[in-house]
Amino acid sequence: MKPLNAAQTIAIAQQFGTPVWTYDAATIRARIAQLKMFDTIRFAQKANSNIHILKLMREQGVKVDSVSLGEIERAIAAGFATGADADDIVFTADLLDRATLARVVELDIQVNCGSPQMLEQLGEAHPGHRVWLRVNPGFGHGHSQKTNTGGEQSKHGIWHEQIPEALALIEKYNLDLVGLHMHIGSGVDYSHLQEVCAAMVAQVKQSGRDIRAISAGGGLSIPYRLGGEAIDTAHYFNLWDAARNEIAAHLGHAVHLEIEPGRFLVAESGKLIAEVRAKKDVGNNHFVLVDAGFSDLMRPAMYGSYHEISLLRADGSEAGGETRPTVLAGPLCESGDVFTQEEGGVVTPRDLAAAEIGDFVVLHDTGAYGASMSSNYNTRPLIAEVLLDGEAIQQIRRRQTIAELLALEL
Ligand code: LLP
Repeated sequence: MKPLNAAQTIAIAQQFGTPVWTYDAATIRARIAQLKMFDTIRFAQKANSNIHILKLMREQGVKVDSVSLGEIERAIAAGFATGADADDIVFTADLLDRATLARVVELDIQVNCGSPQMLEQLGEAHPGHRVWLRVNPGFGHGHSQKTNTGGEQSKHGIWHEQIPEALALIEKYNLDLVGLHMHIGSGVDYSHLQEVCAAMVAQVKQSGRDIRAISAGGGLSIPYRLGGEAIDTAHYFNLWDAARNEIAAHLGHAVHLEIEPGRFLVAESGKLIAEVRAKKDVGNNHFVLVDAGFSDLMRPAMYGSYHEISLLRADGSEAGGETRPTVLAGPLCESGDVFTQEEGGVVTPRDLAAAEIGDFVVLHDTGAYGASMSSNYNTRPLIAEVLLDGEAIQQIRRRQTIAELLALEL
């Protein structure tokens, strides 16, 4: 079983009600420490954009990547600085909607441009603005095709063969090129890393331009399966450091190295706690139904993602030695509302402790792309989030009410 403080988990479920997210601050700090050798750690806040998590990041010297106007406003609410001297926030996208364009210009927030139109629109609005170029190097990789952000299938970044045109636009609008950025996907391994480092070096040399920084993007995976291998961050850094040094030697000055992880910093800190409310045997399948669904945790339904599952008795007693093949599912009116499934929607029963009504189920490693991907499907309010820091328990988001949901329409 993955590490779990059973007594605390039950107490939180009882105090705040289920379903509920919890995050452990110490785990987040430990992951930040593992990446300290990078000049800048820029948290991809799409993984978990709660303002209190962002504050924790800021207190640890981490900066932030925002991908929407909402994420920019969250970063500001968490205390990240804006203005011509600040580089706390980088806005990364493949397009600039009008409201975001106005705000990044107003606040002088660096923009990582993933399309030529972003350069044109920004250049028209504010010549001299600080920009990064997001390069699609022609290949990518992800834990799922849906999280692969490089190659011809991906809409992301400026195609590597079109970098000369992008540089011409930078010239035309006198934009200030900070650096080049490559993020080839979420869930990369070391072999892809070597390829992407080589592509970065080649791009900088071909561009013939001076830059101050490079960004390695994110993509670092975590061991979702019990006994899975954790990433060797020193090795990861060494590969990028070598690329950075080659670029620095070519340019004749030091080059700043950024990394932009989401999942790595927060996934393992998070748990989703739900309550068992029904059980049924359907043909050969034994279903256990809990009060959380894919409107809360979307990853299994969306990608067939695997999360370890633990079962706890509400009275704290041991949840039986016996296990049985179980399909764990939620309350939504869709057959895909199943936590134990593979990509393509194949329901895969798992050997789980025999569940009883009123037991608590814990879905592990849900601190990244959990709450941030939740929806109101089936008119279910967003659930509460709780931050654990040693003995301290802080509710960092209260549960949404149904009245709040209806208010937008009434
Ligand atoms: N930088 C950029 C430009 C990105 O698009 C992303 C993620 C990251 C950094 C952070 O990637 P990470 O370190 O977390 O792998 N919802 C999916 C993951 C989607 C990732 C989207 N972009 C999931 O639940 O696995």
